Amino acid sequence: MGIVNPEERTARGRAYLMCPPEHFAVEYAINPWMDTSAPVDVELALKQWQLLRETLVRLGHAVHVLPAEVGLPDMVYAANGAFSVDGTVYGARFRYPERIAEAAAHRTFYLTGDWRFVEPVEINEGEGDFAYVPGAYGGLILAGYGFRTDPAAHAEAQEVLGRPAISLRLVDPRFYHLDVALAALDDNNIVYYPGAFSDASQRVLRQLFPSAVIADEADALAFGLNLVSDGRNVVLNSEASALAAKLRVAGYTPVPVELSELKKGGGSVKCCVAELRP
Ligand code: ARG
Repeated sequence: MGIVNPEERTARGRAYLMCPPEHFAVEYAINPWMDTSAPVDVELALKQWQLLRETLVRLGHAVHVLPAEVGLPDMVYAANGAFSVDGTVYGARFRYPERIAEAAAHRTFYLTGDWRFVEPVEINEGEGDFAYVPGAYGGLILAGYGFRTDPAAHAEAQEVLGRPAISLRLVDPRFYHLDVALAALDDNNIVYYPGAFSDASQRVLRQLFPSAVIADEADALAFGLNLVSDGRNVVLNSEASALAAKLRVAGYTPVPVELSELKKGGGSVKCCVAELRP
C-alpha cells in the first residue's frame, strides 16, 4: 500500500452500546486468558471502562449504557450480545451456560428501541464473531467459527440480515473470537492477524481485502486487533503500540486506552463495545 494522506481517512459518527463492569470477576475460565486464581480489581476495571466510554464520547460518538446484572461477570463484554445491520438485529445465543442469560438483557435493549429483533436458533456470540464492512461488495459480513459461534449461525445471519456472510475458520485458541483477530477499520478495509486463521481462510481474506493492514502475533497478543474504529480514529489497547504505528502509517489515527483489568477476562476495547447500526 502506498502512502495515504491522513486527510483521506474520514470519521463517521457511530452509536455504541456498553455495559459497566460493576459485577466483573473471573470466576470461571472459558478462554485461555482467564485465570480464576488471579485477583481482579473491580474499581480499576470501572475506571478504565469509564475512560474508554469518555474517549468514544469525546470522539463524537453516542454511547448507550446497558445496566450491569448481578451474577453475569462477563456482561462487560457487550460486543457478544447481538449483531445489527441496517436496523435489523440478529440476537446472540451464547455457547457457555455461564453467559446464556446475557442475551436476554441485550434483547430487552433492542426491543425497547426502534429495531427489528430476530431471535437466533444457532449458537453465536454476536459481534465477538461477526464483523461488518459496509462498503465492501455492497455490505459484507465477516464471520468467525472454530471456538464459539457455530458455522450454521453464519448462514442464519446471512438469511436474517440479507448480506453475504463469509465464513472464516479460527485455529488458535488464544484468539477464540473473530474480534480478537480481525477488525473493520473503515467502510472498505480491515486489519487482521493471519496466523489466527486456517490457511484457506487466510487465502479468502487476501482475495477479498488485498489492501488490508496486516498485524503480527505480538500485535494480536497485545489485544491490538480488538479495536473500535470510526473510519479515522482507531481506539485500541495501549499495549499494542507496534500495531498503532502500523495504523498510523496506513493513515489512521490511533487512540490508545488502558484496559489491563478487562484483559483478565480475555477482552479489550472491541469486546466492551457493541456497534449499533440503525
Ligand atoms: N470472558 C469472555 C468470554 O470468554 C470474554 C469475551 C470477550 N468478548 C469478545 N467480544 N471477544 O466469553
